[in-house]
Amino acid sequence: MKISVFGCGYLGAVHAASMASIGHDVVGVDVDAAKIASLSEGRPPFFEPGFDEILQAGLDSGRLTFSTDAADAADAEVHFIAVGTPQSADGSADLRYVNAAVDAVLPHLAEGALIVGKSTVPVGTAAELAPRIDAAGGRLAWNPEFLREGFAVQDTLTPDRLVYGVAAGDDAAAAKLDELYADVLSHGMPRIVTDLATAELVKVAANAFLATKISFINSMAEIAEGVGADVTQLADAIGHDARIGRRFLNAGVGFGGGCLPKDIRAFQARATELGYGDSVAFLGEVDRINLRRRDRVVDLASEMLGGVEGRRIAVLGLAFKPDSDDVRDSPALDIASRLREAGALVTATDPHAIETARRVRPELDFRPDTDDALAGADLVILLTEWREYRDLDPETVAGLVSGTRVIDGRNVLDGAAYRAAGWEYRALGRG
Ligand code: UGA
Repeated sequence: MKISVFGCGYLGAVHAASMASIGHDVVGVDVDAAKIASLSEGRPPFFEPGFDEILQAGLDSGRLTFSTDAADAADAEVHFIAVGTPQSADGSADLRYVNAAVDAVLPHLAEGALIVGKSTVPVGTAAELAPRIDAAGGRLAWNPEFLREGFAVQDTLTPDRLVYGVAAGDDAAAAKLDELYADVLSHGMPRIVTDLATAELVKVAANAFLATKISFINSMAEIAEGVGADVTQLADAIGHDARIGRRFLNAGVGFGGGCLPKDIRAFQARATELGYGDSVAFLGEVDRINLRRRDRVVDLASEMLGGVEGRRIAVLGLAFKPDSDDVRDSPALDIASRLREAGALVTATDPHAIETARRVRPELDFRPDTDDALAGADLVILLTEWREYRDLDPETVAGLVSGTRVIDGRNVLDGAAYRAAGWEYRALGRG
């Protein structure tokens, strides 16, 4: 099937290449000429495991092309809208790119073609867009995505579920999506057909739930730390209850990235606008608990060093999570910057996110080599749980630093091994 994907950022580029990999003819459209040039040459503009391969395979097969010209999407049967919905100053979602993408596609829309929203939008957005699309002879559906960075290809080709939001009575839209996703559906995952508003809400509700789960365990961490209890054992124990589940109960410096923080704020803004602010007021607390974790690391560093001014601190990890070079709203980058602002001499490292971090925080002292970042440190802080940091040998690292003090901001290090090697080991939520 000939399809187009408007927006070739993280979501759109992965979606375009994934759809080409299951046999569709795909054109990815974006206004950013540099991004289009880079993708057309097989150079991913971001780090995502497995993406390079499907990008190159798509280009080689001739089924995947990229363009800055919306006219190149004219003969597509399905147009995906996969542009960003960044946070505005007041916390609400900025829909300018969604509107611009719809404006770009409408003049080229074939009669009966389907526009499918994938972007995360405030509930009611599809209802606002639909009349313009109907008037142009097209139809609108909403198909939220649930992909995680680091697992983006896998989550696109074998998702937990597919959700189609369609207008009342538009069985043809669902049938068209079934045809498009036949390969994905052959793996047997559930497919849920809803109305447009439900599909929009499903996405924000899922992210709100995940954020709440993380902040719940982090609130337990605050108490556990105070009373000398261990939040990781607590998470293991409650996680065995299948109704609760152990996943997303990892306490630490909290959630960041381009989705969870902005989505809970946009959800509150939209609910408030609709008169349902009270229903999601708890998300404000979820946000505050999350941000307090960052304060706690800065305070703990100060406590362990008797003040951070002039002290050498090695920060391990800058990305908002491992297997990503994304530093948007990254707790790690925020903490590194705050320690530097408080007068610490911070040396920061990350296997993949130094260049992205440098673009937003050029003032930080970045060390691509881990040993170089660790050398002479009075305190080591692990903030992103990359495999190479989890696997560090406490004895070897002790030989590089000036002070054997470590804060495990993700509760992933072997505390007993560090203590046995002479380290003062502190973790969030473990007294
Ligand atoms: C999130 C959702 O998990 C996806 O389902 C969704 O599609 C995506 O947002 C989106 O809206 O596009 P992502 O932002 O890639 O995906 O990252 P997550 O894996 O959800 O992690 C978010 C943050 O929570 C990270 O900073 C991670 O370190 C933190 N986290 C996660 C914890 O602090 N504890 C946990 O137990 C799990």
